[in-house]
Amino acid sequence: MKENVQSTLGKFKMEKSPYMHRLRWHSPIVKLTFWSFVFLGLILVFFFRSPSTSSPLGSDVSRRSLSTNSWGGPAWEKRVRSSAKVRSRNGISVLVTGAAGFVGTHVSAALKRRGDGVLGLDNFNDYYDPTLKRARQALLERSGVYIVEGDINDKALLEKLFEVVAFTHVMHLAAQAGVRYAMVNPGSYIHSNIAGFVSLLEVCKSANPQPAIVWASSSSVYGLNTKVPFSEKDRTDQPASLYAATKKAGEEIAHTYNHIYGLSLTGLRFFTVYGPWGRPDMAYFFFTKDILKGKSIQIFEAANHGTVARDFTYIDDIVKGCLASLDTAEKSTGSGGKKKGPAQLRVFNLGNTSPVPVTNLVNILERLLKVKAKKSIMKLPRNGDVQFTHANISSARRELGYKPSTDLQTGLKKFVKWYLSYYGEGKKSAK
Ligand SMILES: *[C@@H]1O[C@H](CO)[C@@H](O)[C@H](O)[C@H]1NC(C)=O
Repeated sequence: MKENVQSTLGKFKMEKSPYMHRLRWHSPIVKLTFWSFVFLGLILVFFFRSPSTSSPLGSDVSRRSLSTNSWGGPAWEKRVRSSAKVRSRNGISVLVTGAAGFVGTHVSAALKRRGDGVLGLDNFNDYYDPTLKRARQALLERSGVYIVEGDINDKALLEKLFEVVAFTHVMHLAAQAGVRYAMVNPGSYIHSNIAGFVSLLEVCKSANPQPAIVWASSSSVYGLNTKVPFSEKDRTDQPASLYAATKKAGEEIAHTYNHIYGLSLTGLRFFTVYGPWGRPDMAYFFFTKDILKGKSIQIFEAANHGTVARDFTYIDDIVKGCLASLDTAEKSTGSGGKKKGPAQLRVFNLGNTSPVPVTNLVNILERLLKVKAKKSIMKLPRNGDVQFTHANISSARRELGYKPSTDLQTGLKKFVKWYLSYYGEGKKSAK
């Protein structure tokens, strides 16, 4: 929008000369009009610039209301269209929500590389260091992906996007992530994972044609289940965190929109995704930071010295699963908000099928960083984390050809290499 305003001012200056010369420049009326326009222009520049400098309050609401100013106009629409333009035969055009997020960035880049049309949407909230999101945005910008700054709760914005581009698919990755943060800010889970999801589905069901939707659920829906490996057919009615509960609610809401409106919906239960450009709130990430700083790290253990283990899944494997989900998604069957026939409804585990104890994770990091970690062992608090996750991926293998191929050692090596180049040499420090 900043560019837009400036180019308008530039045009005004250029157009001024032929016209102005005919009028007498020294006439006080002309002078007054001219300076009024300049003054008005400056006010406009000031107003349109202000949303990009984040509000000191940092509250969700102020961010949202300001961001409504940052979209619209012919130059903006042109940018949206160009980013979403399909450049390969049989390509798809995808709206990626949460595009400045970890998975969103990788999926957007992969789609763009194949020649698909990609438009990003992200509210750039400050749940974790927004400079990392801005760096991912810059990365995508260079590959031709534009990220619209806005919230999925902004229905007018979503409607506008569908008016400008007839998206064939939506990759919905925007969410409030994290398990323990729900005790600090429970409302943000409801705002993004439930209200935001419904807002998106409402716009998708009314769009013509309706897009097919692939969205991020979570392995956390398995909650306190003890039967392993976790299978999609297992009951998921004992979530251990509000985060898990909102993702589970999302799966039920997806069922409803599929049933009533004929939306094609695929939910992906991600299992502890890690890799370059990852999320700083995840253990492998802040362990790396703290080990390098010589700061003590807390390792959780379950009752009776039980191991805490995670089915760590490397980002490239997840991206393949996401793209395969988009490629195998059938068309939605509704139009004009009405269902015309049964539509596809799927849920897949995207894991790695080999849980690794968190102590092994730390050992690998110590070797890669060549630094011994200072460890303190803590009891696993009963505030959301579960003892282990382990995916049965036979369904994803059968339906998507999903075959994870990166083990934790290989994946962490790539993560550490990225971490050192991004934060290393005193350039920035992980907050
Ligand atoms: C994994 O799930 C499939 C059904 O999708 C089931 O047939 C198979 O027995 C499960 N495997 C294990 C090891 O539980």
